[in-house]
Amino acid sequence: MIKLELENVAKKNLSKYRLTHSINVEKQASILAQKYDEDIQKCEIAGILHDITKEFDDETQLQMMLKSDIIIPDIVLRTPKLYHSVTGMIYAKQELNIQDEDILNAIRYHTTARANMSKLEKIIYIADGTSIDRTYEEAEHFRELSFVDLDLCMFEMIKFTMQYLIKDNNLIPIDTIQAYNEYALKLKSKK
Ligand SMILES: [Fe+2]
Ligand SMILES: [Fe+2]
Repeated sequence: MIKLELENVAKKNLSKYRLTHSINVEKQASILAQKYDEDIQKCEIAGILHDITKEFDDETQLQMMLKSDIIIPDIVLRTPKLYHSVTGMIYAKQELNIQDEDILNAIRYHTTARANMSKLEKIIYIADGTSIDRTYEEAEHFRELSFVDLDLCMFEMIKFTMQYLIKDNNLIPIDTIQAYNEYALKLKSKK
C-alpha cells in the first residue's frame, strides 16, 4: 500500500485533530529515521497508522483483541487507553495487509514500550511523544534529547510516563517496567 492510500485510510478513521497528530508523528518519525539511519518508509507507515483505531469504541476494540490469537496482558485488558495499540496492530495486519513484523510491533508497543525494542519501535514511541503538536512542558526537552541519544530519550520518556501513571494511581504495564529496567541497567553499566 502506498503512502497516499494509507493517508486516506487515516483520513477515513480519524477525527481532524487525531489525523493532524498522526501526520505529525509520521513527519517526526521520518526525521528520526534519517538521523538514525532507519528505513524512512517503514517509519512513515508506522507513524501514520499508530493511532488508527484510537477512535473505535472500547467494546469494539475489546472484541477485536479477544477474537485475535494474541495473548493480551491482564493490565492491558484492564486499561482501555492501551487498547488501540494492540487493535491498531490487528487492523494494520488484517485490514491493510501489512505483514512487516517491525512495523506491526512499532504500532503495538507505541503506548507501553517494552524491553529490547527495535530502532523502529523506539522511533515511533519517541515520535509519538515529541511530534510538533505535543505541547506539554517536557516535550521540547524530549524532542531535543531524541536527536542526541535515542536510548536516553527512551529512558527519560518512560520515567516521565511511569511517574504520571503513579501519580494518578494507574496500573503500570509489565512491558513498561521491563523497558525501564533495561535502560536503568544500561545506564548503570555506562557509569
Ligand atoms: Fe496512541
Ligand atoms: Fe499518538
